[in-house]
Amino acid sequence: MDFSIKIGNPEKQRSACAVVGVFEARKLSPQAEAIDVLSKGYLSAIVRSGDMEGKLGSTLLLHNVPNVPSERVLLVGLGKEKDFQEKQYETAIRASIKRLNETGSADAVLYLTQLPLKKRDIAWRIEQAVLVSMASSYRFDQLKSKTDNGRNELRKLTLSVADRPEQTAGEKALVRGLAIASGISFTKDLGNLPGNICTPTYLAEQAVKLGKEYKLKVEVLNQPQLEKLGMGSFLAVAKGSRQPPKLIVMHHNGGDKKTKPIVLVGKGITFDTGGISIKPAAEMDEMKFDMCGAASVLGTMKAVAEMGLKLNVIGVIPTCENMPDGNATRPGDVVTSMSGQTIEILNTDAEGRLILCDALTYVERFEPAAVVDIATLTGACVIALGHVVSGLLSNQDALARELLDAGEESHDRAWHMPLYDDYQDQLKSNFADMANIGGRAGGAITAACFLSRFTKAYNWAHLDIAGTAWKSGGEKGATGRPVGLLTRFLINRAK
Ligand code: BES
Ligand code: MN
Ligand code: ZN
Repeated sequence: MDFSIKIGNPEKQRSACAVVGVFEARKLSPQAEAIDVLSKGYLSAIVRSGDMEGKLGSTLLLHNVPNVPSERVLLVGLGKEKDFQEKQYETAIRASIKRLNETGSADAVLYLTQLPLKKRDIAWRIEQAVLVSMASSYRFDQLKSKTDNGRNELRKLTLSVADRPEQTAGEKALVRGLAIASGISFTKDLGNLPGNICTPTYLAEQAVKLGKEYKLKVEVLNQPQLEKLGMGSFLAVAKGSRQPPKLIVMHHNGGDKKTKPIVLVGKGITFDTGGISIKPAAEMDEMKFDMCGAASVLGTMKAVAEMGLKLNVIGVIPTCENMPDGNATRPGDVVTSMSGQTIEILNTDAEGRLILCDALTYVERFEPAAVVDIATLTGACVIALGHVVSGLLSNQDALARELLDAGEESHDRAWHMPLYDDYQDQLKSNFADMANIGGRAGGAITAACFLSRFTKAYNWAHLDIAGTAWKSGGEKGATGRPVGLLTRFLINRAK
């Protein structure tokens, strides 16, 4: 979809469809008001008739509205004016795009971007409009033999702003929004690809391709190199699979040479069977999404490179498959991590932390300003927080605060969970320095505690995205989260 920014009101602008809002109950927004005046009360008559009450997300498509230069007018319900906030703004845009894609309009002008939001300026409204529009138009049909070629779909969306200064701010926000949206789509595509296609090797190829496209320095370490580094924990997970493991390292050198980088580390289990501690059959297909942390790192690197962010960012992805096999790791096996610490693997299904811990030791060499790991790490996090927010744990409160704020700003939220030392006791092992599981109680926290033993050298935060990276059921698919949060965090850091 093509986007542009334009100053102006619906009485002047010609398009296939003008999209304006109506508040509950039956109150026209200023832009709808303008059309009403032009059409001599046509909209107020319709609203009075009860065909558009203003209920949030409802739509009514009108043709040939008198004196209006656009072929169609789409009325969109905004809900109660006093409740109109970020979420309502997004819902209204989502409903508009959905409806526009069902009509024959190839282009449209969206006037909802002119609606005031208490805490948000025009830049936010434009950026979010782009993200919501792109998300509503996202489709994953590359594996279907027949695809609907989208003949009737919306091709061009003009976002309306009030004046010159808003236009300037809007243009910048548009560029940013498009970069983030392309990162999110990339993350979704990778997440949605099944385990037989999206293998560790495939992920590495995608990283190399991205590097060529955007001039990122990309390195892929293979099994012998991982052995040489002493990544006994990572390799213990990969052992049960025919797919060779990879460690992907991507550099975006957008900042000053001397400034320390932000490092993102993404869990890249391309399929998680649980290994010898095998998972039950129900919904196991969803464990193809166990590389969504890795996908979010790739998507964020894409967004960052596309917007040419003035910041040094390094993306690191340990990736392998967790399979049961004659050569697989057994429960009770003891392995030595790259850090030298030994680990008793009591449950081979707690594999994410085993690949992450070695990657987290590896990144010490970059002397990072901060490290954020992103992982579909625990079912316990889904129990604790559901599918609304990602779990956030950190060894530095200021870093946690930054990430929480970035989550609020991007509407891709996280929730701070405690990382008190008291939880560390649950990882005691009789046979090694630590066990890889800490029992059922506080499972998301003990998983983070495990990781914290490998992140003492730098400021670190962990995002558990087990509940937010994908949706189950009828709408099954990757969400692209938390690319919104991460890009916002990096944009703020670059300031
Ligand atoms: N990838 C899973 C976590 C997961 C499970 C995410 C379900 C989303 C939905 C992870 O590797 C895992 O299996 N974790 C175990 C840890 C346990 C054995 C301590 C879990 O959460 O059950
Ligand atoms: Mn697992
Ligand atoms: Zn897993």
